[in-house]
Amino acid sequence: MQLLICVLLFGAALVQGRHEKYEGHQLYRVSGAATEFEYLEAYLDLLSTKSAARSTSGQLEALVRLSPEEKQKWLPLFDKKNMTYTKVVDNLADVLRDEEAQINRARHNSKRSGRAISFNAYYRHDEMNEYLESLAALYPGLVTVINAGLSYEGRQIKYVKISTTRFENLRKPVILIDAAVHAREWVTPPVALYIIHQLVEAVVDRRLTEGIDWIIIPMANPDGYEYSIDEDRMWRKTRSRSHPEADTCPGVDGNRNFDHHWGTREASKDPCSIIFEGPTAFSEPETRIIRDVALQNVDRAALYISLHSYGNMFLYAWGNNGSLPNNALALHLAGVRMAEAIDRLALDKADRYIVGNAAQVLYFTSGTSRDWTRAIGIPLTYTMELPGYEYDFIVPPEYVEQIVTETWAGIAAGAHFVLSIW
Ligand SMILES: *[C@@H]1O[C@H](CO)[C@@H](O)[C@H](O)[C@H]1NC(C)=O
Ligand SMILES: *[C@@H]1O[C@H](CO)[C@@H](O)[C@H](O)[C@H]1NC(C)=O
Repeated sequence: MQLLICVLLFGAALVQGRHEKYEGHQLYRVSGAATEFEYLEAYLDLLSTKSAARSTSGQLEALVRLSPEEKQKWLPLFDKKNMTYTKVVDNLADVLRDEEAQINRARHNSKRSGRAISFNAYYRHDEMNEYLESLAALYPGLVTVINAGLSYEGRQIKYVKISTTRFENLRKPVILIDAAVHAREWVTPPVALYIIHQLVEAVVDRRLTEGIDWIIIPMANPDGYEYSIDEDRMWRKTRSRSHPEADTCPGVDGNRNFDHHWGTREASKDPCSIIFEGPTAFSEPETRIIRDVALQNVDRAALYISLHSYGNMFLYAWGNNGSLPNNALALHLAGVRMAEAIDRLALDKADRYIVGNAAQVLYFTSGTSRDWTRAIGIPLTYTMELPGYEYDFIVPPEYVEQIVTETWAGIAAGAHFVLSIW
């Protein structure tokens, strides 16, 4: 019954939508020097950035959203800065309305399948939490649900601990995974839920649970996520209001809020920027939850992956200056193993995964969870960018199954790498 109510609510929210705010907004694929993007990132909505295909080094390509007013101002600037651009979406509001209709259909079909969670639809925060609780009830010897704390707006953030030895065997490595730190990256929680499903329900490879303890946070930013469903599909940040200018510009970029070279980049200081780092490091309850679980397990944590969308990349430290950690070889090798496992199953039209240093592949960042977790001593830490195909992060529900399946192959390869070195 509860599930049914949630389904109806999701539908109602989607029907009303709030896409009018994106009427007339256009998406442009923009190419230029990496340093330009480091600057643009602070002022524009870059939906993703990647190395420009087969171009000379230092050239990046980004998908940029421009309102009609921004278009007037920025296209001439791109010309002046010798950047090239092509329009790829004429009216973002139309794309969002199409997405909404597709998701409603997918949810209608998956509801009829009678399963709590299926991997061809998107779910609300409550439904994900119910799924976690149902697993803990069904598999009490393997799954523990932790109420990790409340989001800024008071939603319960839960994570699961999966262990055949109740986290008591201190010789086992731990793998830590989070999803949806960035609200609009909707395909990331299904991947986290599918990893849980594979480990707990499908159990195709017992070595992965017998040899490893897992901690998975499938919904790290529920306030932002729910807001992205009900109000603003393009929302990325948290919804906190504890900083100056929060009335007009609420929220903080969770992946700039970690205490690693925090506060060192001009680009992240503006509360209205989508990469606002927050008033202090760890100002957000959502990032403190990730911090605390990482610190509690730091002695055994071997691999940390923060799931993001999109761009097909495994990015490793250091993003703040582009130099390499002392275990860069292992970081690169493990990244390649994961990337190859995914590429083997990927769709023909998907870009191959890129593995590399975050600043060398893209540009400088500060306060990321990837760099912070590496700095506290977790050896293998990555920002992972899932595929977006031609849809960017508006990934249609019919691709969810493909993405969760191929990504699981990558995660399993990463887990086997961990077993081989631990
Ligand atoms: C602009 O780009 C073209 C083509 O990539 C290049 O040949 C030219 O030198 C660039 N000009 C400036 C001012 O950067
Ligand atoms: C780059 O940053 C890392 C992480 O803070 C630091 O350990 C390293 O020494 C820095 N490297 C250079 C060349 O500044």
